[in-house]
Amino acid sequence: MMDDRQGRVLVSRALPGDSVMSLRDAGYQVEVGGASLWPRDELLRRVVGVDALLCQLSEQIDEALLDAAGPQLRIVSNYAVGTNNIDVAACTTRRIWVGHTPDVLTEATADVAWALILAVARRIGEAERLVRSGAPWQWSPSLLLGRELSGATLAIIGPGRIGTAVAQRSQGWRMRLLYVGHRRAQPLESLGAERASLRDALQQADVVSLHVPLTEQTRGMIDAEALRLMKSTAVLINTARGAVIDEMALAAALQQGQLAGAGLDVHAEEPRVCPALLDAPGVVLLPHIGSATRRAREAMATIAVANISQVLGGSPPVRAVNDLR
Ligand code: DGY
Repeated sequence: MMDDRQGRVLVSRALPGDSVMSLRDAGYQVEVGGASLWPRDELLRRVVGVDALLCQLSEQIDEALLDAAGPQLRIVSNYAVGTNNIDVAACTTRRIWVGHTPDVLTEATADVAWALILAVARRIGEAERLVRSGAPWQWSPSLLLGRELSGATLAIIGPGRIGTAVAQRSQGWRMRLLYVGHRRAQPLESLGAERASLRDALQQADVVSLHVPLTEQTRGMIDAEALRLMKSTAVLINTARGAVIDEMALAAALQQGQLAGAGLDVHAEEPRVCPALLDAPGVVLLPHIGSATRRAREAMATIAVANISQVLGGSPPVRAVNDLR
């Protein structure tokens, strides 16, 4: 166990709330970044010799960064629940804990998934752009007709915490629920959801909502072939990670009317948005704001800091991704 009052902590970006103060109060030497991210070479320079790194989901924590940090690094604490930016296997090999921030952002993210479902189904983005454009409009029986969700089928792809919270919200619309997962998900089944293959879910659903982590297995899982299975009236929602979808294939499928629309909070190469999607019909695009409520973001900071305090104090993180015991 290390001397718990001599750790150096790097927090790569300023966080909401004051939880980082608790690390200083505990006697650690803490460096905190500013409002924007450091360029990669600066992060590599600043990480040298730190015992703990609190990083953002847009920072790649790979072998090169771990080499730069040095052998004293004890924990990488991600300010996110998703950890696709971290080479967890490399951390484990080097006996570095990886922490993340689950649970506290579940409800906020499920709300944004529903905001997208409603926005796409009822063409809210188009409607708002019409009003703001100043173009003449008047009520008409056929102005911006959308689709109703009551009684429609919702497929949850990835039946974890956020997928379950999205399914819970569907009860008000009396939707039929399907889910796709490696194993049975009791919380979803208790809502009446039936387990289905990906193929069946894509073929039957009116709304497909993605909630899988980004892994080598899920990268590009919604490709041209998957999109061809969807109903021409269906909508696709992504609040997980952009690279789960082949974005060019999605843009082409939307142009060809293979599905009716898509609501995307996440993008494969953030902050870049696939240009073909900007021009595709029926698309609502957001800048990765799933967890963007003050409550969620402060709670994420509290957990990310607690993960570090625990490890520097000689215990496992409160929310660990790997297991070094
Ligand atoms: C996460 O935590 O992984 C979200 O994408 C951002 O809050």
